Amino acid sequence: MKRDNFGSKLGVLAAAAGSAIGLGNIWKFPYVAGQNGGAAFILVYLLCVAIVGIPVMVSEFALGRKTQANAAGVFKKLKPNSKWSITGYLGIFTAFIILSYYAVIAGWIFAYIARSATGKLANIAPDQIGVYFESIIGSNIEPVFWSLFVIVLTGFIVMSGIKEGIEKYSKILMPILLGILVVLMFRSLTLEGASKGLEFLFKPDFSQLTTKGVLEALGHSFFSLSLGMAIIITYGSYVKKDENIASLSLQVILVDTLIAIMAGIVIFPAVFAYGFEPQAGPTLIFITLPAVFQEMPFGALFETLFFMLIGIAAITSTISLLEVSVAFVTEEFKLSRKKTTVILSSILFLLSIPSALSFGALSGVTVFGKTFFDLFDFITSNIFLPLGGLLVCLFAAWVWGAKNVAKEVTSNGIFEFKWEKLYSFTLKYIAPIAILLIFLYSIGIVKLN
Ligand code: PFF
Repeated sequence: MKRDNFGSKLGVLAAAAGSAIGLGNIWKFPYVAGQNGGAAFILVYLLCVAIVGIPVMVSEFALGRKTQANAAGVFKKLKPNSKWSITGYLGIFTAFIILSYYAVIAGWIFAYIARSATGKLANIAPDQIGVYFESIIGSNIEPVFWSLFVIVLTGFIVMSGIKEGIEKYSKILMPILLGILVVLMFRSLTLEGASKGLEFLFKPDFSQLTTKGVLEALGHSFFSLSLGMAIIITYGSYVKKDENIASLSLQVILVDTLIAIMAGIVIFPAVFAYGFEPQAGPTLIFITLPAVFQEMPFGALFETLFFMLIGIAAITSTISLLEVSVAFVTEEFKLSRKKTTVILSSILFLLSIPSALSFGALSGVTVFGKTFFDLFDFITSNIFLPLGGLLVCLFAAWVWGAKNVAKEVTSNGIFEFKWEKLYSFTLKYIAPIAILLIFLYSIGIVKLN
C-alpha cells in the first residue's frame, strides 16, 4: 500500500500547528499563566519549550520521517524484536484515550456555538449561567450527541486521507482561526479598562511562581505541543525528505506559543474591563466569559466567534489524535483507511460515553475516587504522557542515537543542523531528567506545595 504524504510545506505546518494548538492553548494556558505569576510563568514556559520541547519535537519528527511508519512500526523498524515497540503502543493507546474525553469537551464547545449563534446564551441571566452550563453537561443526551458530532466530523476528515483530508482542512481552518483570533484581540484590547487584564497576564510576579508552577510549565509544554503520544511521530512519517524538520519544529513551537499568548490577550482584558474575576478551569470560558459577552456591544456575535475559534482549535487537534490509531491499524492490519476510520470512530464513540455522562447519569460512578472523565484525564495527562515522552526521549537519544537523529534532521546532508551539539546535549541529559521530574511529580512521588 502506498503511503500518503503531506503535499506542501505550508500544509505540514498547518497540520502540525493545528494539532498543537488546541484546548490547551486557548483555555488552559491563559489561566495557568495568570495563576502562576503572569509573565514570570510565561518566561519559564518559554524556557521549558526551548530546553525540552524543541529536542523532543525534533526527535519525534525525525523518528517518523526516517522510518515512514506508524508509531508502533517506528520502533519495530529501528530496534526489531525489542521491547521498545511498547513505547509506540503506549503512545497510540494514550492518544486514543485522550481523544475519548477531549471529544466530550469539544462537544460542550459545539453545544455552546449552537446556543450562542441562536442567541439563547445571551438571554440567560448572568447568575444563572453556571446552573445552565451544569444542566447542559449533566444532561444524558446532549453531551453524548455532541461528542458523536465531534467524532463524526473528525472521522470524516481523517478518512479523506493526509493530503485530501488532514492537510486540506488544516489549510482552510488554521487561517480562519488566526483571523478570528486577531478580530477578538482587537475587540478586547480596545475595551476601556483592558490594561488591567494585560497587567494580570504580563506583569511578572516572581513571588507567585512556585516550584510547582515550574513543573506545571514543563508538563503543559508537553501537552500543548502534542508531544509524548505518537502524534508528531505519526505526522513526521508523512513529511518529505526535502523538508527541514528542525525549522519546522521551531515554526510549530513558535506559532503554538504565540497563539496561547494571543488567547490570553483575548480573554483577560475583556474579563477585567467588565469587572469580572479571572476564574480557573472550565468556569472561565463556560461561565465567566458568556457573562462578559453579555455586557459587550454585539456580544453574541463575538461570543459565537470565540466559541468557533475554540471549536476549530479542538477539531484540528482531534484529527491528529485519531490519525495516530488510524495509521497504526491501516498499516499493521492491512485494512483500508475508510474501514479503519469507521471501526475506530465507532469504538471511540462507545468509549466517550462514560466520559460524556460523567457529569450526569454516571456522576456517582467512580473508580479510584474519580469519575470516568477525571480518571481518563488523570491517567493520560499525569502518567502516560510524561512516561511516553520519557521513553521517546531515551530511545531517540540513547538507543537510536542522537547522532542518527541529527543525520535525519539534515536529510542526510541536504540541510545544515546548526545547533546539533546543543540539541544532543539537551536531548541526552537535560530533557530526560526534566521529564522524569514531571512524571514523579504528577504521580505524587515528588511532593511540592
Ligand atoms: N496540543 C493540543 C492542545 O494543546 O490542546 C491537543 C492535545 C494533544 C491535547 C494531546 C492534549 C493532549 F494530550
